[in-house]
Amino acid sequence: MATVTLNIFRGNQEKGYFQSYTVETFEGMVVLDAIHKIQREQDASLACRWNCKAAKCGSCSAEINGKPRLMCKTRIDSLPIEEPIIVTPLKTFPVIKDLVCDVSWNYEIARKIPPLKLADEGSKEPLRMMQEDVERVQEFRKCIECFLCQNVCHILRDHQRKDIFFGPRFMIKLAALEMHPLDVEDRSEFLKEVAGVGVCNITKCCTEVCPEEIHITDNGIIPLKERVADVYFDPIRGLLRWLKTP
Ligand code: SF4
Ligand code: SF4
Ligand code: FES
Repeated sequence: MATVTLNIFRGNQEKGYFQSYTVETFEGMVVLDAIHKIQREQDASLACRWNCKAAKCGSCSAEINGKPRLMCKTRIDSLPIEEPIIVTPLKTFPVIKDLVCDVSWNYEIARKIPPLKLADEGSKEPLRMMQEDVERVQEFRKCIECFLCQNVCHILRDHQRKDIFFGPRFMIKLAALEMHPLDVEDRSEFLKEVAGVGVCNITKCCTEVCPEEIHITDNGIIPLKERVADVYFDPIRGLLRWLKTP
């Protein structure tokens, strides 16, 4: 029977170490299966977060051999198993225990975003949208909130500037609202001054790790940047604004 060795981070934000476990593999095994096998057969104290085991809840995010991935979507046979597989928690968020991080900052950010606003909130008329508008927004609504994109964004990860940038996950949440054809909320100032869309330098690292293959930068962030540039840096609009200023 073939086996695989996993070197897994144990500990918390203050201190930690790597513990090595060897488990038997089976056909179609994913990294999360290996973690469950370890918990069941060797060490029930090993902590990880998961829920669906179907790449749909976004709970089992971790770094596998240094790459941010979903543990339930990463097959063991896709990894070089002659060497131990290194499994570590997401680096951008504080570690609570082993592979479990505190991602609550993301939910605080979500609460700051101005929600959808309809022109006539009280209307009993059915809401109508063009199919192409539905499809455009639908791409952003595929997000499973795994926060892998937040984890790789260098503004949050390396520079720890959570104070000036909401991160790619919330750029696409804002894009979904801004591109909603029935939404009338003006979020230009919020995007520029609070969410920090201008800080993103379009490295596209977030897009590369998204398990839902959302084109975060091309379809979300760049159009948002263009909207902000239109409002604040278009010379004609600037002139009109200046003329209107008493
Ligand atoms: S493209 Fe922007 S949001 Fe995405 S990782 Fe790079 S800086 Fe962060
Ligand atoms: S945009 Fe993609 S990578 Fe980011 S949280 Fe959503 S599903 Fe995960
Ligand atoms: S357990 Fe739900 S995404 Fe992996």
